[in-house]
Amino acid sequence: MDLALQGRIAFVTGASRGIGRAISLALAAEGVHLGLFGRDIARCETLAAELRSQYPDLRTCVVPLDLERGTAAIKPAVEAGIKALGGVDILVNCAGGAYRGRLDEIPDESWERYFAVKPLGLIRMTREALPYLKQSKQARIINISGTRGREPGGPSVMSGPINLGTLSITKALANEFGPLGITVNAICPGSTDTGRWTELVNITARDRGVSIEEATRHLVREVPLGRVVVPADIAGLTVFLASRQAAMITGTAINVDGGRTRGIP
Ligand SMILES: NC(=O)c1ccc[n+]([C@@H]2O[C@H](COP(=O)([O-])OP(=O)(O)OC[C@H]3O[C@@H](n4cnc5c(N)ncnc54)[C@H](OP(=O)(O)O)[C@@H]3O)[C@@H](O)[C@H]2O)c1
Repeated sequence: MDLALQGRIAFVTGASRGIGRAISLALAAEGVHLGLFGRDIARCETLAAELRSQYPDLRTCVVPLDLERGTAAIKPAVEAGIKALGGVDILVNCAGGAYRGRLDEIPDESWERYFAVKPLGLIRMTREALPYLKQSKQARIINISGTRGREPGGPSVMSGPINLGTLSITKALANEFGPLGITVNAICPGSTDTGRWTELVNITARDRGVSIEEATRHLVREVPLGRVVVPADIAGLTVFLASRQAAMITGTAINVDGGRTRGIP
């Protein structure tokens, strides 16, 4: 199947690790040039070197970006990516996270810090990239949300509103950008094996008063497909949503959670 991705240009936030790193690897395998945006520049540079050695024709650039620093940091970062790669066709807003804990455990300032990254950083990144996406013939915006946006609760009360906000802006922008030929979709990972999975296992063990092994078994038992989601599971769907075949998919949000979410998505 020709995904029509060869030679396109993607910007990926949160490219340094976890899901964003896996998405970058998967897009590179389809011949997509990459702007790798992150705070941890050493990790982004390591990824860029890995990609260049695997795909010698691939163009990459590493752009330092702390989304908490707002438009003053985001605007020049987008411009740096455009200058280095000459445009952008695919924007993957992946950076984010949420403080793990109950309401009374979350420091007040953490609400503002995490919201500054997602959904606020994602909104600002999209706004700054928009003039360039408008010039693309296969423009895509893919927002990494989370299943807690539709099923709040669990050990991070913050995940719900952060990911719900991401779903809401995804739908609103799909409507607004449809006439421009830009699709906007969200992916909702369930608990995924990144650094965040380790945090989840630890807090589950603490809250249930069980060992790490028992907490892991408990979390995996909740997944009908019987294993934890891995970053490559999210990356595969991202590649598809970026492809020509997904041209008529917009304003939707797709769970990648092994069936863990109990309600109708
Ligand atoms: N893993 C899960 O279970 C899960 C479940 C649902 C949704 N998600 C979502 O999936 C996305 C990726 O999560 P992950 O599991 O891959 O997490 P991760 O391994 O902790 O990676 C988080 C990424 O976000 C970046 N980031 C965080 N704060 C940032 C900031 N202020 N400015 C710029 N970049 C920042 C990090 O960059 P640096 O390394 O450069 O600091 C890192 O690349 C997040 O949006 C998360 O909410 C994950």
